[in-house]
Amino acid sequence: MKAAKKIILVAGARPNFMKVYPVYKALAKNGKFKPVLVHTGQHYDSNMSGNFFKDFGLPAPDIYLGVGSASHAVQTARIMMEFEKVCLDEKPDIVVVVGDVNSTLACSLTASKLLIPIAHIESGLRSFDREMPEEINRLITDAISDYLFVTCMDGKRNLLNEGIPGKKIFFVGNTMIDTLKTFKPRIGNSGYWKKYGKEYALLTLHRPSNVDGRKTFIGILKALDVIQKRIKIVFPVHPRTMNSMSNPEIKKKIKKMDNLILTGPLGYMDFMSLVMNAKLVLTDSGGIQEETTVLGVPCLTLRRNTERPVTITEGTNILVGDDPDRIAREAVRIMEGRKKKGRIPRYWDGKTADRIVKVLEERL
Ligand code: UD1
Repeated sequence: MKAAKKIILVAGARPNFMKVYPVYKALAKNGKFKPVLVHTGQHYDSNMSGNFFKDFGLPAPDIYLGVGSASHAVQTARIMMEFEKVCLDEKPDIVVVVGDVNSTLACSLTASKLLIPIAHIESGLRSFDREMPEEINRLITDAISDYLFVTCMDGKRNLLNEGIPGKKIFFVGNTMIDTLKTFKPRIGNSGYWKKYGKEYALLTLHRPSNVDGRKTFIGILKALDVIQKRIKIVFPVHPRTMNSMSNPEIKKKIKKMDNLILTGPLGYMDFMSLVMNAKLVLTDSGGIQEETTVLGVPCLTLRRNTERPVTITEGTNILVGDDPDRIAREAVRIMEGRKKKGRIPRYWDGKTADRIVKVLEERL
């Protein structure tokens, strides 16, 4: 009998866990693979990391690198130093990375120097904005990956335009949507959203471009002030945003908004219960643009660009940038019932992890 192929699956930050979960499950079920789950520790608070393992029923990571927060260079370097030791000890047949965070870049770069094949899940997304740290992570990871799994056709087109051979690219769909489909019945039954009454908008903000600069953040708060006069806004606050909110001027403005309800970061089931039942979602997250599209919930993206244009062309997403008047105007339109209709993009059907495992089974 052939020995099981050893696959290292890397997760590091909050948006990674929902992308890794279905792949881990499909690999474990298949029997021809030995998945080894590595958690870099880029995120480490229980509500940014550990609670997702509990929510999904994932086993604790096989290896925890515990790198924590630091500047980009230091965080990336620490992950590389620790992950190199793991690769040398474990001698995996392949390293699988997901998404676009610093852990994705650090682990793929480490594997490539050790001549270990790399698979990148959620490959090919491009905002064409190199001021976003994630864009640099995407470009480099894709340039050195051997298996590029894309969520949509524009991802494939971007990779081909960058000269990546078509035979390395596989259009398989979206593993984050696998997770959503798996837990949708549980989310639907949770009733967590009722804590906030019948009508609310949900807000998430954490992009450095929105929350690290005082001017842009204050502009967004101006829009939120208009919106919260018409509808309650529930705002689970990311730790980066919490740091920025210690600025006295920002603190004062937030305190004045009675209908802006702050909470800490939430677990997956509670957060998705809020998404599913929201009148509208305002966000600068990548993944939430996709989840709202699948759930048919109106989404306003507070960014000037998106690496996920399919959520606009096919889904419920509208890009509103950071202009306060535009944000407020679009939110009011939705509250008045003028909602954009969308459809679910191809292969966002809950079977993406199976497609990925099939490719690996055939080619590894
Ligand atoms: C990271 C990702 C971003 C992703 C986001 C999701 C990169 C470059 N950025 O951004 O793509 O959308 O995660 O959350 O990889 N902190 C805590 N507890 C934690 C983690 C972080 O308090 O568990 C605080 C620290 O003060 C830290 C700050 O949050 O300095 C930012 O964390 P970091 O991982 O550097 O970036 P994110 O903004 O979370």
